[in-house]
Formats: sequence, structure tokens, C-alpha cells
Amino acid sequence: MKSTVSIAFLAAPALGSGHLIARQSSLDYNAAPPNLSTLANASLYGIWRPKAHVLPLYGSTGDPCMHYTDPSTGLFHVGYLHEGASGATTSDLVIYTDLNPNSEPFIRAGGVNDPIAVFDGSVMERGINGTPTLLYTSVSYLPIQWTIRYTKGSETQSLAMAADGGRNFSKLEHGPVIPAPPFALNVTGFRDPYVFQNPQFDRILGSSNGTWYTTISGGVHDQGPSLFLYRQYEKDPDFQTWEYLGQWWHEQANTTWMGEDWAGRWGFNFEVGNLFTLDQAGYNSEGEIFVTMGAEWSYAPIVPQVSDNRDMLWAAGTQSLVDGELKFEPTMAGKLDWGRSAYAAAGKHLPASSLPSQKSGARDRFITYLWLTGNFYGILDFPTQQQNWTGSLLLPRELSVGYIAVVDNALAREKGSWKIYGETLNGTVMLATLQQSIAREPLAAFKQNATNVITQPGGQVSSNRTFDQSPSSKHYILSTSITFPSRANNDLKAGFTILSGRHERTHIYYQFSNESIIVDRSNSSAAATTTPGINTDNEAGKLRLFDVPGDGAGSKVESLDLTIVVDGGIVEVHANGRFALSTWVWSWHEGSKDIGFFVGGGEVQFGEVGVWEGLVDAWPLRSPGE
Ligand SMILES: *[C@@H]1O[C@H](CO)[C@@H](O)[C@H](O)[C@H]1NC(C)=O
Ligand SMILES: *[C@@H]1O[C@H](CO)[C@@H](O)[C@H](O)[C@H]1NC(C)=O
Ligand SMILES: *[C@@H]1O[C@H](CO)[C@@H](O)[C@H](O)[C@H]1NC(C)=O
Ligand SMILES: *[C@@H]1O[C@H](CO)[C@@H](O)[C@H](O)[C@H]1NC(C)=O
Ligand SMILES: *[C@@H]1O[C@H](CO)[C@@H](O)[C@H](O)[C@H]1NC(C)=O
Ligand SMILES: *[C@@H]1O[C@H](CO)[C@@H](O)[C@H](O)[C@H]1NC(C)=O
Ligand SMILES: *[C@@H]1O[C@H](CO)[C@@H](O)[C@H](O)[C@H]1NC(C)=O
Ligand SMILES: *[C@@H]1O[C@H](CO)[C@@H](O)[C@H](O)[C@H]1NC(C)=O
Ligand SMILES: *[C@@H]1O[C@H](CO)[C@@H](O)[C@H](O)[C@H]1NC(C)=O
Ligand SMILES: *[C@@H]1O[C@H](CO)[C@@H](O)[C@H](O)[C@H]1NC(C)=O
Ligand SMILES: *[C@@H]1O[C@H](CO)[C@@H](O)[C@H](O)[C@H]1NC(C)=O
Ligand SMILES: *[C@@H]1O[C@H](CO)[C@@H](O)[C@H](O)[C@H]1NC(C)=O
Repeated sequence: MKSTVSIAFLAAPALGSGHLIARQSSLDYNAAPPNLSTLANASLYGIWRPKAHVLPLYGSTGDPCMHYTDPSTGLFHVGYLHEGASGATTSDLVIYTDLNPNSEPFIRAGGVNDPIAVFDGSVMERGINGTPTLLYTSVSYLPIQWTIRYTKGSETQSLAMAADGGRNFSKLEHGPVIPAPPFALNVTGFRDPYVFQNPQFDRILGSSNGTWYTTISGGVHDQGPSLFLYRQYEKDPDFQTWEYLGQWWHEQANTTWMGEDWAGRWGFNFEVGNLFTLDQAGYNSEGEIFVTMGAEWSYAPIVPQVSDNRDMLWAAGTQSLVDGELKFEPTMAGKLDWGRSAYAAAGKHLPASSLPSQKSGARDRFITYLWLTGNFYGILDFPTQQQNWTGSLLLPRELSVGYIAVVDNALAREKGSWKIYGETLNGTVMLATLQQSIAREPLAAFKQNATNVITQPGGQVSSNRTFDQSPSSKHYILSTSITFPSRANNDLKAGFTILSGRHERTHIYYQFSNESIIVDRSNSSAAATTTPGINTDNEAGKLRLFDVPGDGAGSKVESLDLTIVVDGGIVEVHANGRFALSTWVWSWHEGSKDIGFFVGGGEVQFGEVGVWEGLVDAWPLRSPGE
């Protein structure tokens, strides 16, 4: 969580209730756009608004956080920062119900511990008296930034308990339970507590079964980013006292996992760290240790108050006791999302006993939601009042350990966002990596409930051409598989042109020259030519297509399995169960709906392309017109 963003929250006017959002029906989406910054408030409410994503009725969406399954109802609660923190419940990860009218918060800043702001927190499902209990960062001073001197007492960790089914979290009438960073450490940040229980930690630390732990994200000036580890003191049932167990993970300042190629930079300060354990099927308390975290960094020289770069990373690894302290050592790392606006992932163990999992038959899962900032962390001069809302969460994702059998060659052996899991005698090697895919329920609902299905035949394609039929809206999911003849041709590119028409188009394609998926937004928005704050920079992320055993004796290039979700202005690109890149495409023209094949430098084989239109209205209980 970044302080400039919270300043924006504080500056937001208090909302009344029961407002209808005014819409300006006179806007002509068949003509060139005016300067959108000059339009009336809320006149752009609908054009880029997603249907199927989680976001409040209006105002800013900040970091997702504070998710939990309520043991008494089985409902999954999804939270996000919004005038404090707000949220919704879901019984299927598809349809959401606001906890409070007008997406009003369940906790607000302004108490004794948190006079200035409420930052991210996490929930113990059975906390004090068995009630869901929130441990969150209570803020007393701003600004807070890793680039400036840390103000003592600015971030503390406090408790609040669920009341009224989670519609209100009441703050406990005492001071913070973690009142200060560890003794004499000059921290860069100390926030976003992430609570968890884990038998592997109990065993190695000699704790009682079921002990709660929390990480706190941050770093140390001149030393680097860290996750600080704490333990509930001797099963103190009131969670009043937390014992500091050291810097569970620390990296040297401004270092990387390996260059910047596959896993960005560790940076100077960690934020929003989550710690959890996975196996091939999902969440498993005895599984492999994973972390997701935001890394903040900057190109030198460090400019006070400016953190121009953030990476949303994951890492897996092992832990051991070193001089009595538990230490984490990564064995692989990568990006959870390559989009520069995608950040602050917050996940939670979703048990098989939860309502969503009972309905879908899923076993224990780890579900994470990312934030897609709508104004690039507050620095874009986007027409915010005209849109009336800013930012969104991305679709929920299921995380697990993924295994791929590939040909044992230099491509597999190189250090990247994978590791060697095991070798075979026949020349293949098993790789392990983080597997991530859109949660099964929304994926199925988008296909089952499509209002129109377009099936475009594939085949050998060597030129750009538009599909036989275009979708009738900007809300759909597209999926296909692309097979490349060989990696010999470095000029080869293939993918799709979407949101395309006479005046605008966006290309999404894989290119071999640097093993990247590119989202070329340079011609994506006519509004960018009239209006400040409509960013059209390209986005790019790395995905290695390995050599895999062929049908006969030989090998072939792994196919590219693409799923693209277009939901208003949001575009999510998912590939091969291990790559995601999410961004905004602010297309203006009504006619910018065509989809086409995009190919350069040769011929590739497209599988049949399915386009399921309509997605699902995630908020049927919000009144029409709002
Ligand atoms: C438009 O919104 C801004 C900020 O929310 C507010 O200050 C202004 O009064 C609004 N203008 C009108 C005409 O409602
Ligand atoms: C929660 O309830 C308490 C006690 O009634 C009240 O003071 C507080 O304002 C409520 N919080 C929110 C976010 O409505
Ligand atoms: C903490 O770090 C800041 C930034 O490097 C520095 O200005 C300050 O002097 C340090 N404080 C202490 C007590 O070392
Ligand atoms: C803790 O749980 C494990 C199984 O998860 C069990 O084998 C062990 O006996 C338990 N220890 C205590 C102290 O209850
Ligand atoms: C961080 O590392 C990068 C790349 O190695 C270097 O260009 C930059 O100067 C370093 N930044 C600082 C603040 O040391
Ligand atoms: C959004 O519109 C509502 C209803 O007109 C208004 O009350 C609110 O202030 C607006 N909020 C923002 C953030 O623009
Ligand atoms: C999908 O459609 C069916 C009937 O067509 C409906 O009963 C169901 O509620 C829809 N599901 C969602 C998630 O919209
Ligand atoms: C498809 O369009 C792109 C971008 O305009 C261009 O670079 C590429 O050469 C085109 N492909 C062919 C086969 O003409
Ligand atoms: C997109 O490219 C076309 C030429 O193909 C150009 O006329 C148009 O102005 C461009 N639009 C934007 C939004 O860059
Ligand atoms: C659009 O309007 C805004 C707000 O009045 C102004 O700051 C900006 O310069 C205008 N942009 C253009 C391209 O005219
Ligand atoms: C790959 O190269 C393109 C230019 O062709 C560049 O825009 C992109 O950023 C590169 N990919 C990555 C992951 O840096
Ligand atoms: C080699 O063995 C693995 C594991 O048994 C199998 O998955 C793979 O298909 C085999 N590869 C070849 C080239 O036969």
C-alpha cells in the first residue's frame, strides 16, 4: 500500500447514500472523442466499467485484503481498501453481494490507533472468542515511503473483530498489539500483516499445534527488503502479544533473483507479503512454501517520495533454522502478473468446506486477487471525476504447483521462473513452477452463460485478417491454442488484434525474439489523443515456450495456450497456466470491437478460437442505473 494513494483516499469527499449515477447519454461513441477531462461528473461511468470484476459502486479501489471464509456461513468475504476497507461476500466466486449499501466500508480510519488511515490486514477466521478477527496496519502519520526517513510510530498493527456478519469490524479498545518495528531496526516500511497457521512452522519452531503466525512486510534502510515473522505468544487467546522471530526473509537492497528477465527486482522494500503452502492440486498445509509480494524500487538516484517501479512477484523456497532463527531461501521466483498496473495481490486459503468449494467440488485451494490501479498509483491525470470510479480487482486466480515435462536442453536448464524437479532417463526433465489460472467458477460461468458464442476456425495463418464475425460488445473471454513450427525463426510473432476498428486497435502477441507476450496499446485509444492520463504504453512479459516431446521421436515447441478476458477497459492475458499480464485498454469508438489474427514473419497454426460473449454480471443486486 502506497502512501500517495491513501492521501488520495483521504481527499475523496464523503459519499452520501442512495445516489443514482448520472449518465451523459449525449456522448457519441461513433465520433472522435472530445477532451474527456472537460465532461460532466460520472458521464464516463459505463464505458470502461467491468461487469464481472470486483470493485465498489463508485470511488477508488485500493489493495485487495482481509479476505476470509466465515466459518458460520461458509461465504467467502472479499475485501479491498476503499474509504478504509470495504468488501463483499460470494458463495461462488462469480456473483458478489456488497456487505454494506453503496459499498460502504466495514472499517474506517479515525480511531485512537488509526487516526490517519487503515492499511492492509488479514483475518483469523476463528480469532478472539472464535469470531473472525482482523489484524491490520493502523496508520498515525503520513507520508510513508521507503525513499524517505521513516516516521516512528507511523505504522502499527491493531485488532478488530467482526460484528454483524462482517458488515462492521469493531476495533478493540486497546493499543496496537504490535506497536513498533523490531528493536533498533531502521525500517523502510512495516505493514500489511499476513496471518497464517501451519504445522511445518509449528514443528520447526516447537510451537503448539494451531499457533497463529504473521508476517509483516517492509525492509531496512540501506540493507534491503524483508518479511518480518511474528508468533502468537503461547497461544494467548486474545492475540494481545506477538513474539518477534526475526527477519524470516531478507534480500540485499536493489538485487534480483536473476537479472531482471524473469522475476523483476527484489527492490528496497516489500509490501503485501502473503505466505502459504501449495501442492499440485492447490492449498496443502504440508506443501511447498510460497510467497507473493510487491517489491518497490527505483532507478538511481533515489528521488524522495517517488517509487517509480513496483513488481508483483512470487517466490517458492525452503526454510531452515540458522543460529536459532527461521530463514527462508528462495529456490525459484517469477512475476505473478507482468502488467505494470497489476499489484498488491492478496490471497487466502479457501477450504473445501467453504460454500464456493462445496458447490464446485474443489478441494482446498489458495485463491488470490490482484489490484489493477486505474491511475497508475495516483500519478496519471486520468479523468477520474468523469468516470466516478478508479481501479478494480482482477479476476480471482487459483494457485498451485505446476509441473511440465520438457526436453532436457539449455532452455530447461537455464535459471528462470522455474526449477528442475526431477530428471528422467529418456532425455526429458520435469520442471516445477507456480501454476496460476482464473478460478474455475468464473471461467465456467463465462462459458456457460455466454449470450453469444463465436467459433472462428483456425488453421495455418500467415497474414493479418479479421474474424468472420465480431463480438457485439466489449465483454468476452477468448481462448485458443497456437502452435509454432520451430523456434528457428526469431522474427515470428503471432496472436490477435482486439478492440479493433477503423480508428483503434490493440495487438496481443507472442514474439520469439525475446520470448515475450506483448500488448501493443500504441494505437489502442482515440481518447489518448484528446485527454491526459490515458496511458497507451506497451506492456510486455516473458514466457518461455519449452521444447516438449513430439508425437514421434522428435521434439516440438510447446504450444501457446491463450486465454484473453476483455471486460470493459480491463484486458487480462493468461497463458499456459503460468503467465498473466493484465492492463487497461481505453478504446473509445463503438466500432472498436473486431478481433483478428495477428501474424508476422512466417506461418503459424491456430487452433479453433472460441469467443464467449457477455461474461456475467457479478453484481446483480446493485440497483440498475447505479
Ligand atoms: C464533481 O465532482 C467533484 C469531485 O467529486 C466535486 O468537487 C464537484 O462538486 C462535482 N461537480 C458537480 C457539478 O457535481
Ligand atoms: C462499526 O460499529 C461501531 C459501533 O457501533 C461504530 O462506531 C462504527 O462506526 C462502525 N463502523 C463502520 C465502518 O461503520
Ligand atoms: C535511518 O535511515 C534514514 C535513511 O537512510 C537515515 O536518514 C536515518 O539517519 C537513519 N536513522 C538511523 C537512526 O540510523
Ligand atoms: C499436532 O498435530 C499433529 C498432526 O497434525 C500430531 O501428530 C501431533 O501429535 C500434534 N501435537 C500436539 C502437541 O497436539
Ligand atoms: C540499482 O541497481 C541498478 C541495476 O543494477 C542500478 O542501475 C541502480 O543504480 C541501482 N540503484 C541504486 C539506488 O543503487
Ligand atoms: C460518484 O457519483 C456519486 C453519485 O453522483 C457521487 O455521490 C460521488 O461523489 C461520486 N464519487 C466519485 C469518487 O466521483
Ligand atoms: C447462468 O445462467 C443460468 C440460466 O441460464 C442461470 O440460472 C444462472 O444464474 C446464471 N449464472 C450466472 C453466474 O449468471
Ligand atoms: C500484421 O500487422 C503488423 C502490424 O501492423 C505487421 O507488423 C505485420 O507485418 C503484419 N503481418 C503481415 C503478414 O503482413
Ligand atoms: C491509429 O492508426 C491510424 C492509422 O492506421 C491513425 O490514423 C490513427 O490516428 C491512430 N489512432 C490512434 C489512437 O493512435
Ligand atoms: C483537456 O482538458 C484538461 C482539463 O481542462 C486540460 O488540462 C488538458 O490540457 C486538455 N487537453 C487537451 C489535449 O486539450
Ligand atoms: C521484448 O521486446 C520488445 C520490443 O520488440 C519490448 O517492447 C519488450 O519490452 C521486450 N520484452 C520484455 C519482457 O522486456
Ligand atoms: C520420457 O518419460 C516421461 C516420464 O515417464 C514421459 O512423460 C515422456 O513423454 C517421455 N519422453 C519421451 C521423449 O519419450
